[in-house]
Parts: sequence; C-alpha cells; structure tokens
Amino acid sequence: MKRIYNFSAGPAILPEEVLQQASAGVLEIDGTGMSILEVSHRGPNYEAIHHDAENRLLSILGLSSNEWQPIFLGGGASLQFAMLPMNFLSSNQTADYVNTGEWSTKAIKEAKRYGKVNIAASSEGNKFASIPTEFNLTPDAAYLHITTNNTIEGTEWPALPSAGKAPLIADCSSDIFARDIPYDRFHMLYAGAQKNAGPAGLTIVLVRKDFLESANADVPTMLSYKTHAGAGSLYNTPPVFSIFVFDLVLKWIEERGGLENMDRCNRRKAGLIYEALDEFPDVYDPAVTNKADRSLMNVTFRLKDKGREAEFLAGAQLREMDGLKGHRSVGGFRASIYNAFPETGCAALAAYLREFAVS
Ligand SMILES: Cc1ncc(COP(=O)(O)O)c(C=O)c1O
Repeated sequence: MKRIYNFSAGPAILPEEVLQQASAGVLEIDGTGMSILEVSHRGPNYEAIHHDAENRLLSILGLSSNEWQPIFLGGGASLQFAMLPMNFLSSNQTADYVNTGEWSTKAIKEAKRYGKVNIAASSEGNKFASIPTEFNLTPDAAYLHITTNNTIEGTEWPALPSAGKAPLIADCSSDIFARDIPYDRFHMLYAGAQKNAGPAGLTIVLVRKDFLESANADVPTMLSYKTHAGAGSLYNTPPVFSIFVFDLVLKWIEERGGLENMDRCNRRKAGLIYEALDEFPDVYDPAVTNKADRSLMNVTFRLKDKGREAEFLAGAQLREMDGLKGHRSVGGFRASIYNAFPETGCAALAAYLREFAVS
C-alpha cells in the first residue's frame, strides 16, 4: 500500500498500524469466524472492546472512573451543539459562550433555542484570527462553553480560561489527545472522532457524574445524556466499527507515550511548518499572527499573491501532498497535522514552502 501525505481536516489520516488491525477485524474478530461488523453489540467480543475503549479513554486523559462518565454517541459534534443546552440549560438560565470561529457560532445558534446566551468573549471582530483574553462572564451561568481548537481558522486556546464558578464545557473535536492539558478542569467535553480519534460515526462525550445528576429531566430519551450514561452507551446499537477503531487508536496513543509525547511531537511538527511560513513574510500570510494562539493541529495560511494559489496546489500534488486546500468558507490553505500525521510529512511541506517561496 502506497501512502501519501494526507493533510485533510477530517475525516483525516489514521495510523497505518491501526488501518491494518482494522482491516483484519473487518474479516474476523477474535477467532470467532465473524467480522467486527457482524457480531452482536451485546455479545462478549464487542462488549470487551467497548469497555476497553471506555477505560483507555479515561486513563489517557487522566480522568477517574469514579468521577467521570464516558458516553459514545452518533450524530457528530454538531448534535452536541443542541444536546448540551437541551440537557444543561433552561429557558430562565444563561449560558456563557466564547465565539472563536464557525463551529462556536453554530454551537451558539443551537443554545439560543433553549435558553439565554451571553457571548462572554468573541474574536469575530478580527475574523477569528486570535483567542480572546478578556471575558464578560455571567455570575450564575449554567456553564461556559469554549472550542479548544478552531479547525477552520487555525487557532487554539494556549491555556484554559478561568470559568469562575460556572462549569467549563468544551468542544475538543479537533484537538482531543493532541496536547497535555488538564482535562479534569472541564465539567464536560465532547469530540467528533474523525480527526484525532478514529473514523467518522462516533462522537465521544465525557461528563462529570455529579454534573450529570443536574441534567434536565424533560429531554427526549435518545437525546438525554442520562439515558446513554445509564445504559453504558448501549441503550441502542452504538457505532460499533468506529468504537473498535477508536480503541485501536487509543492503544496506539498509549504505546507512544500518551498525551505527554503527543504534545511534544505535535509542537515539533507544527513548528517545522510555521517556521518555514514565517521565513518568507513577502510570500506567505499565516492566518494567525499571534503565535501563542496558533493551532498545533490546523496550520492555516494564504499566499500574498493569490494568483499563484493553483500553482501552489499543483506543486503540492506533484509532491504527493493532498488535502491542503483551506475550508471553503475562508479559502487559502490549511495543513491538518493530527497525531497520526508523520513528522516527515511536516518536513516535506516545510521544504516545499521554502522551494516555492524562492521559485
Ligand atoms: C471544532 C469542531 N466542532 C464541530 C465540528 C462538527 O463535527 P461533526 O461533523 O462531527 O458534526 C467540527 C468538524 O469539523 C469541528 O472541527
């Protein structure tokens, strides 16, 4: 199998070892004579994988199973934009949201259907090119919501904000497992798996058990976190194949030294590309000028000379680099370099950036 450098934002590159193990599991699981796609989600083979994934998830993030409830869902992170306020916001309450990009904007839109929303801070004024540092918090907010990594704009919170008394809740879709951050500072976090954690189809939710107790009661059964928590994410058929591959990705992360090593590698990888971009200010326009706010996962940039964009992409294709086109809403370029993306690919892009700049 020939692999190219896949810079896609999601679904995104997965470790080759994981792909090989996943393909073996598609043919047969544990000598059962059946594929992972064919066994019951209530049978022992799948159940072992399900519990293994729950335990590894908590262990990698440094969260205790006494305090935290993992939940595996479908519907993407986008469904969480609505499920979160349905469960934890009432019409007479206010939730604080920080608006740092298109995904935060979508989360805010959904929350407004269920209660009052205070925009505690926003970087919309500078086209989401930075992370806000000043907040206007509601004293008794139901929660404060942030997006830890802004996949489209290429910004990332350099440190978690102080939420005051409000529970801190985060959309970690594009940087879960990427950095060694104190996950126990959150009351709840969620992530679509298809960037740094596995295939599309699985959404990971982690919620503190005491916070879950306070969830609203009048929520439709399938949209209530309590339903899924109470049934160990087996209330209905979960996305079994995605959870199987997610578990393989978790093992891969553990074997490579967990969050500490992911953090170290990701800083080095992103550094290679940002360094090359910053060397040629007349040619490249990195979208995020405040270096502390730059994403380790999604490096966004434009060419000063927009007329050369097609030439840049064609040159990248020739060098077997795919997926560098920026999100359709912002244009330019985006190099998504999740955990599984190899350092050699970052070095190759850095070399190409230098070559292109002097051509
Ligand atoms: C930060 C963030 N939040 C939410 C989403 C939406 O995820 P999904 O497509 O799983 O609904 C994305 C997708 O790219 C994202 O990057």
